Amino acid sequence: MTPSIYVSAVVGLLMILGFVTFKSISSSNVLPGVPEFKGMPIFGAMPTYLREGMPALLGKLIAIGDDGISYANIVGNVLVSCHDPAMVREVHAMPDEVASREGDPGRMSWSPFWTLRRLIGNSLFNQVGPQINHPRNVFIREFNNTKANEAKFDTIKKIATDHANALTGDGTTADVDDIRYSADNFAIALWGETLYGNPDHHKGGKVLALSEKIITLAGEPWPSVWYSIALFFRLVTPGEPTRSEAKLRKGVSKVVEGNIQKLEAYEAANPDAPLKVIRSLSVATGGAKSGPLSVFASEFTNLNLFGGHHSIGLNVVWSLIELDKHPERRAKLMAEINSVDINDFTQLNSKMPYLDACIMEINRLHPTVHATLRVINKETTLTSGKTPIKLTPGMLIYLSYLHLHTSKEFWGPDADVFVPERFLGGRSKHQPFMSFGYGPRNCVGYKFATLAAKVYLVTLLSTYQLDVRDHDHEMKLGTLLETTKPVAVKVTRRS
Ligand code: HEM
Repeated sequence: MTPSIYVSAVVGLLMILGFVTFKSISSSNVLPGVPEFKGMPIFGAMPTYLREGMPALLGKLIAIGDDGISYANIVGNVLVSCHDPAMVREVHAMPDEVASREGDPGRMSWSPFWTLRRLIGNSLFNQVGPQINHPRNVFIREFNNTKANEAKFDTIKKIATDHANALTGDGTTADVDDIRYSADNFAIALWGETLYGNPDHHKGGKVLALSEKIITLAGEPWPSVWYSIALFFRLVTPGEPTRSEAKLRKGVSKVVEGNIQKLEAYEAANPDAPLKVIRSLSVATGGAKSGPLSVFASEFTNLNLFGGHHSIGLNVVWSLIELDKHPERRAKLMAEINSVDINDFTQLNSKMPYLDACIMEINRLHPTVHATLRVINKETTLTSGKTPIKLTPGMLIYLSYLHLHTSKEFWGPDADVFVPERFLGGRSKHQPFMSFGYGPRNCVGYKFATLAAKVYLVTLLSTYQLDVRDHDHEMKLGTLLETTKPVAVKVTRRS
């Protein structure tokens, strides 16, 4: 190294240290009266965040915030945890101009939604303003509408049956090393068929690997840290991906291009068939019946590599684990499965109260999206707590669904046990249940996701006797609520 490189490196380091110290001092004691997780001098909660990750830091914040709110300072980024149901609802209800997932595009925040945008480009997650009502409604008509989902039922059933049968092939029994992959592959194949007419979308494992990478990176602190440093030294254009992120994004484009080719081949071979879903979404947002997709539909092709399938897969996996731990409840569900025609959409969708209760209970106890966050864009006051609390631009507000869903205060002493019965006959409004979000930016695909999870679960249970090998599966809080280890299952075909 030449002396000038040494000098530049030292100057750079000093600049970063000076900046960190300044930011840290200027943002200490920003929420008077609210408990603060102090961490280390100057660096605040940064070391905990980098070493243990955001979920662990959130756990520490929840532990100190008895009144439902607490905060930490991560090098000038103020991280607030709201874990009181009324406050969580209040933050969710804030309009985009006050609080959004990314924050003001002109102000770099550490919101993981920024990382997501750099990896997959624009999507509804980062869009704001009244114009999003139209795309939201397009999604809702396609995925949260009973008639639209009824039309998809035969496809879901077919993919579920094919994937269930593949577990044993021609045999009657099989040891599945990790049912998580089978569940994810079912969901990926389902999307491939529904969107593009390509049920082999999952084959070769490329889509799953890419999607896992995106999901993991979106929840890690390091992409935001590197990005901030790169921005500080003007090594990247604000909002644009870094070199490694751009490489991943190329991988996304390649998968999408392959799917579009399949779609075009499907359309050429079936000119009179109903439009595949990605084409319907495109037409509903100004696209033509052939040729390039509308911007909205193209954004969904990318978003689909991140969201929608692993969450469905996890729903099924957690259901299998809990049902195996509670054989009496599995027996009740089996009795219901045997008493209806599970090949009939109406019966499966709305005449299986115990199945509905099981899925609700899984979403309560193991909410796949276990937390979300908002960045404050405009000064506002949180009024639902004991005292009003002023929130200022740039603050990151974390909202933990898992905490609300498993709090004994709201769900009773058996809050951490799988008890579907609690959902039979409805639930009290005081019990916070937000597995698909809350308010104006809630999930636009939850009915399709729930239907898909139900169909695959019921198909597996009616095809096989399933024995989950271990009963000590624990929750790992990544971007989504994972299991800590592979979920091995022995499957034996029912006679
Ligand atoms: C089990 C499966 C799923 C779970 C647990 C889930 C959960 C959620 C949650 C909690 C939110 C709100 C996040 C927030 O407020 O920041 C959300 C939003 C969203 N979900 Fe889902 N979701 C699932 C499946 C799907 C599917 C299948 C789609 C595909 C259409 C989808 C598309 C979206 C979109 C686009 C948003 C953002 C909506 C907006 O910003 O206006 N989700 N989801």
